[in-house]
Amino acid sequence: MSKWYKEAIGYQIYPRSFNDSNNDGIGDLVGIIEKLDYLLDLGITMIWLGPIYKSPMDDNGYDVSDYYSIAPEYGTIDDCKNLINEAHKRGIKVVMDLVLNHTSDEHPWFIESRKSLDNEYRDYYIWAKGKNINGIEKEPTNWASFFGGSAWKKDEITKEYFMKIFSDKMPDLNWKSKAMKKDMFKMVEFWCDLGVDGYRVDAVAHLDRAEFIDSVGEEKYVQDWSKISNLPKVFDYLEEINNEVLNNYDMFSVGEVGGGANLDSVLDYVAYENNRLDMVFTFDHNWRNNGFDSCIDEFIQEVDLLSLKNDFARFQTGLYNKSWHALYWLNHDHPRVMSQYGNIEHHNLSGKMLATVLYFMWGTPLIYNGEEIGMTNGDFSDISEVRDISSINNYNEVIKTHTVKQAMTNIRISARDNSRTPMQWNSSMNGGFSESEPWIRVNENHKWLNVEHQLNDSNSILNFYKNIIRIRKSEYKEIILYGEFELTYKENKRKNILIKLKTHLFLPKDTI
Ligand code: NOJ
Repeated sequence: MSKWYKEAIGYQIYPRSFNDSNNDGIGDLVGIIEKLDYLLDLGITMIWLGPIYKSPMDDNGYDVSDYYSIAPEYGTIDDCKNLINEAHKRGIKVVMDLVLNHTSDEHPWFIESRKSLDNEYRDYYIWAKGKNINGIEKEPTNWASFFGGSAWKKDEITKEYFMKIFSDKMPDLNWKSKAMKKDMFKMVEFWCDLGVDGYRVDAVAHLDRAEFIDSVGEEKYVQDWSKISNLPKVFDYLEEINNEVLNNYDMFSVGEVGGGANLDSVLDYVAYENNRLDMVFTFDHNWRNNGFDSCIDEFIQEVDLLSLKNDFARFQTGLYNKSWHALYWLNHDHPRVMSQYGNIEHHNLSGKMLATVLYFMWGTPLIYNGEEIGMTNGDFSDISEVRDISSINNYNEVIKTHTVKQAMTNIRISARDNSRTPMQWNSSMNGGFSESEPWIRVNENHKWLNVEHQLNDSNSILNFYKNIIRIRKSEYKEIILYGEFELTYKENKRKNILIKLKTHLFLPKDTI
């Protein structure tokens, strides 16, 4: 198989927020088609689309209720075929999100599964009995979910608990079920046949679970991700998907492995000889500041530059010649990198610095929509403006022990919605994203921070991205894409290179 993905310039599109063609306030597939020429001009050769399947949108499409249909607000299967076709005409490959860890509770499999203990779909999901502690019924284990609360939810129909490591409406699939796997492989094949070029495999690290034994910890629900992450069977499942389906196509796969995966574990996923994934997204470099603990009044954001450098160096050196790697600053689960590691007072320079740091390393760039113009975190002033279920759950927890002001600071610094506000195309109403009120508010700074403005400014971040992309495709390709990485200034902590800034978040909106 060819290794086209190594030389690809990837771009992640968050469909809900990219471009709204029918003015219903929600981005859609026709809207993406309208912007393909913009992406071509930027130099993009591969797009990754966030999930566009039919879904009740509890988690913006990661809760799939039908893998074979497109969410009506995004368009139709014909729009999707059209998008693939139009992208291919421009030499742009299309990568879909593949959600294997869970479905929506509105998926027909789950609707069946919960009906009775002997339903034929029962073992498509992970069910267990509660445990009895001194006459009180408890969840099968004390494990926490990523979105807050327990990793289990009791279903009243059969009085058993189903596992759900994300939201209550996202029951986890049971990869031990042969029938479920067979149905999944069929679905994976469907999209391959439709012409997609690759998959970003969502939450791939979690397909296997440890034995149901309580974790040690004081909290009611213990955040012990080791019970649900990077366990041995995950690798078997990945090999199976490849052998059953993907190896028959020239497909590319990138898995979302997340935080805490060490080099050996990453190699288990991506080493060339393993036939599992082509590359992974790790999360270590996404949180090298104190953003998670930002529930204090006068929050000072500090970047741990040494750790950040080491995160890159660890994988650049450890994976060299053994596998391939994804180069990315952020995705839709992280704050905007400009707000995290840049300095908005030096917006133009920060954007260029961030691009230079990352995109001269070896690997495949995946630029997150809006990064190329230096979009910033959202300017949320009230929780009612926040849409993300995990952030809302977290906010509700935080206000039990903190003030609303502190909880909102935390939202503005670490919430996932910070990177989900609409793409800022121009300075007009709603940033040119939509003529109707968007599903989530556009940042006020679209008046000066937008694509149109930067296209017309030869010194802009956008034009700088174009140049870097051009250089990656030029006669320097060999050295940039395949050259060896060496970290210089290993001990240099000069934080002033990045930031130690009093956060801009308390300044009036129009100064941002
Ligand atoms: C990772 C996705 O990137 C995130 O947005 C989603 O909430 C979880 N997986 C669950 O699918």
